Amino acid sequence: MSEPGTSPKLLSIRNLDAFYGDFQAICGIDLEIAAGEVIAVIGANGAGKSTLLKSIAGLIGARRGVIEFAGDSIASLAPHMIVALGIALVPEGRRLFPSLTVEENLLIGGQLGRSGPWSLDSVFRLFPDLKARREFKSTALSGGQQQMVAIGRALMSNPRLLLCDEISLGLAPIVVREIYARLPEIVSEGLALVIVEQDIQQALRAASRAYCLQEGCVALTGKAADLTREAVSAAYFGIDAR
Ligand SMILES: Nc1ncnc2c1ncn2[C@@H]1O[C@H](COP(=O)(O)OP(=O)(O)OP(=O)(O)O)[C@@H](O)[C@H]1O
Ligand SMILES: [Mg+2]
Repeated sequence: MSEPGTSPKLLSIRNLDAFYGDFQAICGIDLEIAAGEVIAVIGANGAGKSTLLKSIAGLIGARRGVIEFAGDSIASLAPHMIVALGIALVPEGRRLFPSLTVEENLLIGGQLGRSGPWSLDSVFRLFPDLKARREFKSTALSGGQQQMVAIGRALMSNPRLLLCDEISLGLAPIVVREIYARLPEIVSEGLALVIVEQDIQQALRAASRAYCLQEGCVALTGKAADLTREAVSAAYFGIDAR
């Protein structure tokens, strides 16, 4: 049983390091997420946001430290095993299969995952635009529709934790609002969500807590509502706000 006033953690990361060859992109990150929680990870270009998500998803081989998911250590597991346990990544730049249709892209997302509420039907209910285009090649879609396919593909694995890397990137504000408006339905199943965004306000509006990364380290963390613009700017750009 959890201590009074604390919720059981779905994901616990302690002292995480990650490397590209000799280059250390992440240095000693600590991060926790409870079931059903929405957190934002913000930071400037190259701060280590994508590396953090890829480390959780098992896509960075050279990682060390503690990564526990639902009580199990996943720090040395292969990506497909991590998907099977219930972690899905919506990668930066969407990474759809261009020669496949919308439906085929979605079905691939379901291959390694768990059973649960998400299926072709429920993804099409979430994003009705995709249903009418299910036979289209993914390249024939608008940027916003491609992002919906990328989110739908991740949901098809019925994750308990969804990692979204810059879902607003390159999209018009109206499309970003449309996609963000769907997030409450996505988390209503008790799913935990990590939102990585360059758009700080967008991320802080959607999340209850935030982590700001700077040069691979956590420069600032706290409740999203408590983070002042000055503190975020200082952590984001490495400027001393005093
Ligand atoms: N494949 C790679 N090989 C070598 N270095 C890399 C690789 N990918 C990222 N890096 C470096 O690791 C650091 C962190 O990069 P990362 O992509 O995690 O940053 P980010 O916060 O996601 O940035 P962005 O906002 O531009 O997406 C940067 O210095 C980057 O240049
Ligand atoms: Mg990135």
